[in-house]
Amino acid sequence: MKQCVKIGEGTFGEVFSTTNASGDTVALKIIPVEGSDKVNGEEQKTFGEILHEIIISKELSSLKEKQHNQTHGFIGLNDLHCVQGCYPPDFLNAWDNFNWKKGSENDRPDFFEKDQFFIILEFEFGGVDLENSNGTLMSLLVAKSILHQVTVALAVAEQELQFEHRDLHWGNVLVKTTKQKKGSFLLNGAAHSLETKGVLVRIIDYSLSRLEIDDLTVSCDISKDEELFMGQGDYQFDIYRLMRQENGNNWSNYHPHTNVLWLHYLCSKLLSMKYRGSGGRGAKDMREELTRFYDNVLQYSSATEALRNCPMFQ
Ligand SMILES: Nc1ncnc2c1ncn2[C@@H]1O[C@H](COP(=O)(O)OP(=O)(O)OP(=O)(O)O)[C@@H](O)[C@H]1O
Ligand SMILES: [Mg+2]
Repeated sequence: MKQCVKIGEGTFGEVFSTTNASGDTVALKIIPVEGSDKVNGEEQKTFGEILHEIIISKELSSLKEKQHNQTHGFIGLNDLHCVQGCYPPDFLNAWDNFNWKKGSENDRPDFFEKDQFFIILEFEFGGVDLENSNGTLMSLLVAKSILHQVTVALAVAEQELQFEHRDLHWGNVLVKTTKQKKGSFLLNGAAHSLETKGVLVRIIDYSLSRLEIDDLTVSCDISKDEELFMGQGDYQFDIYRLMRQENGNNWSNYHPHTNVLWLHYLCSKLLSMKYRGSGGRGAKDMREELTRFYDNVLQYSSATEALRNCPMFQ
């Protein structure tokens, strides 16, 4: 495996970057399934439990090819593998390097038996998540484009799939630099464009997400996940409780206002981040504009409504 580098982790997954057969950089999200060993203190997911994330990844990735509602704002899913065996040495080396440099909260994945199954989701490499971009983004002008791109992606997915992300914290928004000046999208058949300000956004991590395909609802029942609703110390943890208040702890129904709650949270994060450039004369105006967005966005019933009506996006 060429240039295998660990780039991220969560309770259920380890994420590595590598180069695929075509020479493109890709991200591999590796999730142990069906085994009896606990991983990072949790039971492994079953094939059935992981299916939800696979279906949603595929649907959102396909939005870049749709003729009516189109967006490039969700991470591209290239391929899907199911493999059996223990963790290969190259991946353990990459895991150790990450652990030395950044520290890991996960167990070293060296204890799996030869019959362990893993699901590997092969994604496009989407860049660096916002949490790890703090201090590297150029300006609040870029922050505004990021918020615009996230709103567009959510709006398009609402219209096409009755989509709610439900876990859009700053570790799940990726940004990469681009020379492309404009980004295009289709909303209910109408073509629009936005200014990239030199960055492209990719939304990831659908482990709590919800959508509908032909009247079939795909969702994750978190109604009994007490830990998820007990977090303190960051606005992120309030959002889980606010979502529950809005849907009465029924996680199959469609409440697109949850997307607006995450836009509100993301705006607060973008306002609190450090930027490389001083921002020049426009910086104060931009801070005021984003603050107005923060003060007003919660009144909209969905990302679609926010996109259509927020003065910042007109
Ligand atoms: N396609 C990608 N390109 C670049 N980096 C990625 C990509 N996918 C994931 N990452 C990195 O890996 C981290 C963890 O990935 P992800 O959020 O999908 O998994 P997770 O948090 O383990 O999910 P779960 O909530 O299912 O446990 C991300 O925060 C990000 O830094
Ligand atoms: Mg995540």
